[in-house]
Amino acid sequence: MDTRPIGVFDSGLGGLTAVRELARLMPEEDLVYFGDTGRVPYGGRSKEILVKYARQDVAFLRTFDPKAIVIACGTVSTTALDVLQAENSIPIFGVVEPAARAAAQLTKNGRVGLIGTKASIRSGAYERALAALRPGASVTSKACPLLVPLVENGRFQPGDVVAETVVSEYLTPVKAAGADTLILGCTHYPLMKPVIGAHMGPGVSLVDVGEQCARWVKKQLEWDGLRNERPGAGRHRYYVSDSVEDFSALASVFLGEDVAGEVEQIDITAY
Ligand code: DGL
Repeated sequence: MDTRPIGVFDSGLGGLTAVRELARLMPEEDLVYFGDTGRVPYGGRSKEILVKYARQDVAFLRTFDPKAIVIACGTVSTTALDVLQAENSIPIFGVVEPAARAAAQLTKNGRVGLIGTKASIRSGAYERALAALRPGASVTSKACPLLVPLVENGRFQPGDVVAETVVSEYLTPVKAAGADTLILGCTHYPLMKPVIGAHMGPGVSLVDVGEQCARWVKKQLEWDGLRNERPGAGRHRYYVSDSVEDFSALASVFLGEDVAGEVEQIDITAY
């Protein structure tokens, strides 16, 4: 039994896809979320900068004495997971392994589509994980740099012509390759699930990396005896590095609860 909070971070809103699932699966756990909204997007940045930002994000979350940290960001998971794990004595979870496991189980024809940020696609991390779990599976990958800014600006609803056009351009080659499973390799993308799902069609399984990661974290905490078994609802706190208002409005819509009183702005460069 461990009542310390779970730390979660992403470059912005995307990690809320993991928070929503963590809260659903483990309602009694306290969660502390950091969204680096002042520096989003991460996806086009170099490895050096990403490691620097990720270290600061972790250093900030560690001020809450968390029992574990979830990297709810495909970009940081594919680029800096090993560095962060080596530097920290608490468990650090990334999204790649659980997503690859889900895709390996879901695909029937062995053709997997993968979309992510430039940094995630460049890393080859999802391909490596899948090759180990499902040898012979083919992966058609596509970097989608315009999707994160669309999500951060609230442009992810079905009927949004810009969102639908951009999704169609990115996903047409992935669909043409015959993928029956699509890894949404960036935690921002599940907010666009209705638009992405409509383009890919009902025969294609969508793997939400935040959701898969949350399930994996629950299992790991149980195995390690780190769950909080205290009855009652956990507290969810949110920190951002830019305006509280924009984040609060979109986060409240996405999480289906008013988070406004629990969001605070911090200076991440101080960590
Ligand atoms: N949501 C993050 C990811 O999964 C970061 C996206 C970005 O900031 O570019 O990759």
